[in-house]
Amino acid sequence: MKVISRRILGIGFITTIASLAFPALATETPSIKCRALGQTTRYRGKLFTCIKVKSKGKTILAWDSGRVIAIPSATPSQNPILSPTESPIQSSELVVVNKIDIPIAKSSEVPANTTMSFTAKNRYGNSNTYFVVRNSDGLLGMNAACTHNGCAVKQEREGLLCPCHNALFDLNNGSVLRGPAAHPLERVDVREEAGIIYLTD
Ligand code: FES
Repeated sequence: MKVISRRILGIGFITTIASLAFPALATETPSIKCRALGQTTRYRGKLFTCIKVKSKGKTILAWDSGRVIAIPSATPSQNPILSPTESPIQSSELVVVNKIDIPIAKSSEVPANTTMSFTAKNRYGNSNTYFVVRNSDGLLGMNAACTHNGCAVKQEREGLLCPCHNALFDLNNGSVLRGPAAHPLERVDVREEAGIIYLTD
């Protein structure tokens, strides 16, 4: 029993020290991926924002430590800030933000054999840039967030260029032409209806 008690005490001590030394470890972060600067999501009664952080000498996107969501109380005189356990959002609940239809452009704005960029609000209410390509196979939608570290990729003559670390993506399909990005630009569902192009994101 003594051995077990010592072990439990030891683990508790190490956990406490680790939490004090690295506060981020003490906070559970959302399970969905943080992929665009400024993206927000609610998880376990907190609002998390996607920010840039330094890790092993690199700048990466990661969730911040979150802040408790203020929920208006039934009577205005009561404290409007509820602790996570008092929040109507259950501790086990993961808030999923559903994709939305985004009317991104008129059909005439994307002629045949062109790649055009457009900026619109995504489902998180954040301004986001997208590319829409019209080629012989039809329409293709892509998220302009660089798959290396999330910077907004720009359209240049040589292709889709990331200004942060110089990754280059194919203008026609978002595939990687030059690193450090290792993955193609994220595809976004696209459809065309009554002269309007819609993205779903
Ligand atoms: S963020 Fe590093 S290459 Fe784009």
